[in-house]
Amino acid sequence: MMAVGHTASVALLGLTGSLVQVEADISSNLPGFTIIGLPDTALGEARDRVRAAATNSGCGFPTRKITVNLSPAALPKHGSGFDLAIAMAILAAEGTVSGQSVQRVVHLGELGLDGRLRPTTGILPAVLAAARAGAETVMVPTGNADEAALVPGIRVIGVPSVRDAAIWHGAEFDPVPVDPILAPQRAVAENDGERLDLADIVGNEDAIEAMLVAAAGGHHAFLLGPPGAGKTMLAARLPGLLPDLEPQEALEVSSLRSLAGLPVGSELSSRPPLESPHHTATAASLVGGGSGAIRPGAAARASHGVLFMDEAPEFSPVVLDALRQPLESGVITIHRANAVAYFPARFQLVLAANPCPCGQYGASDSECVCPPASRRRYLARLSGPLLDRIDIQLRVARVTAARLRLSDEAPRLSSADARTRVVQARAAARERLAATPWKLNSEVPGSWLREPSRRLSPATTASIDRALERGGLTMRGYDRVLRLGYTIADLDGASRPTADHIGRALYLRRSL
Ligand SMILES: Nc1ncnc2c1ncn2[C@@H]1O[C@H](COP(=O)(O)OP(=O)(O)O)[C@@H](O)[C@H]1O
Ligand SMILES: [Mg+2]
Repeated sequence: MMAVGHTASVALLGLTGSLVQVEADISSNLPGFTIIGLPDTALGEARDRVRAAATNSGCGFPTRKITVNLSPAALPKHGSGFDLAIAMAILAAEGTVSGQSVQRVVHLGELGLDGRLRPTTGILPAVLAAARAGAETVMVPTGNADEAALVPGIRVIGVPSVRDAAIWHGAEFDPVPVDPILAPQRAVAENDGERLDLADIVGNEDAIEAMLVAAAGGHHAFLLGPPGAGKTMLAARLPGLLPDLEPQEALEVSSLRSLAGLPVGSELSSRPPLESPHHTATAASLVGGGSGAIRPGAAARASHGVLFMDEAPEFSPVVLDALRQPLESGVITIHRANAVAYFPARFQLVLAANPCPCGQYGASDSECVCPPASRRRYLARLSGPLLDRIDIQLRVARVTAARLRLSDEAPRLSSADARTRVVQARAAARERLAATPWKLNSEVPGSWLREPSRRLSPATTASIDRALERGGLTMRGYDRVLRLGYTIADLDGASRPTADHIGRALYLRRSL
């Protein structure tokens, strides 16, 4: 009889999964059960879960000395997703199931005390990692089978219980039907941005153009205006203007949802996400964290989509500061005692703010009651380094009742038409930037745009050259206008910005 069983599972660190070898050894020493190889507390409890699950489901459990080793030992291992692998390695060592069969399959899933398998978070990135490591078959809880099946190139076996898993691997048990534990029936939140249409917005043409430009060039945007000006309405429609996700991006977006414990659905969504954290959010909820398994925060979940921070000055300075690393590098790094986790964080940021604490400053129809000092302090909470990264900075006004009535007849741009224009503009930018590391105008450094070989004619840049000389525009501001000018040219089908494009670009960032 074979006294050692081998199988594999996956350890996740951030979005990165690595195969973990799970070995079980049974010896005739005094009865006992140890797990070695840097397990955390939740994993330490696997002993009790696996023993109870195997016993209660009638699979039998050895009453000798069991040692389970998870390797490589240096790899941190979190959570309860190793239960099934541990159980199968033990049953293989015991000879209850086929050792060869167990060895060929990667096992993921947490066990309940009654022997049923519970859906676990992070199944999608874990199965992806298994497939990339060359595994041919993965066994998961029934409740995770749909999610696992989103990964191409790997066979998925969904089982409801440890007993069914054992039977699949050749155990001679009679099947005992059980009700599989399914993930809580939360509908996959419909992305609001897909139902909301740009054509709902009356007037506010500048702001609509700003959203179009933001989508086409990947520019971050800051909208400043009184309550009711439509800032939230505009931001919520930005994801609907973005192109469909590439397959790799879609897998990443759904993997981040899976890790966060959010429903993923049985089809891979190809639409960009929208995350709108509340201004009471903590830095951990924005960038990620948590004890045990590290969960991605809103900034990571907004990857390839939009991170909308409404009432931006109300966020704590610590939270606003935590945005700087992802804005600079597109990556979030979370340090732990024994490991560093990385999450992608390549999102488009939209900040919205009222002009002052009471919100009325500058509105034509009502008076601001804030003392001037508190008004100045309010926007100063948004630091220079943060605003420096935001190409579009626009003041939005409330539409008047007269305007609302007037624009009933005016044709309005629908989200679908806007998206078509965005896709064309992005293709044009990609072609122009083909020999560079960048794809979107927002990624291009100003110094590159100002190189002599591609410098625009003095007549084209006259307006911003003048503003620069007079001090109305900083060098960084100048570069932001150039980037926006290229995006506006791309939307217009022009190969280089004209003076008119630069003028409109200047407007999209000077209106504060
Ligand atoms: N330009 C507009 N066109 C149509 N409705 C608007 C417009 N601006 C504001 N609204 C209406 O006012 C409400 C408040 O807008 P909202 O986007 O929440 O403003 P803000 O975020 O600037 O306070 C919206 O739900 C919408 O019904
Ligand atoms: Mg709002």
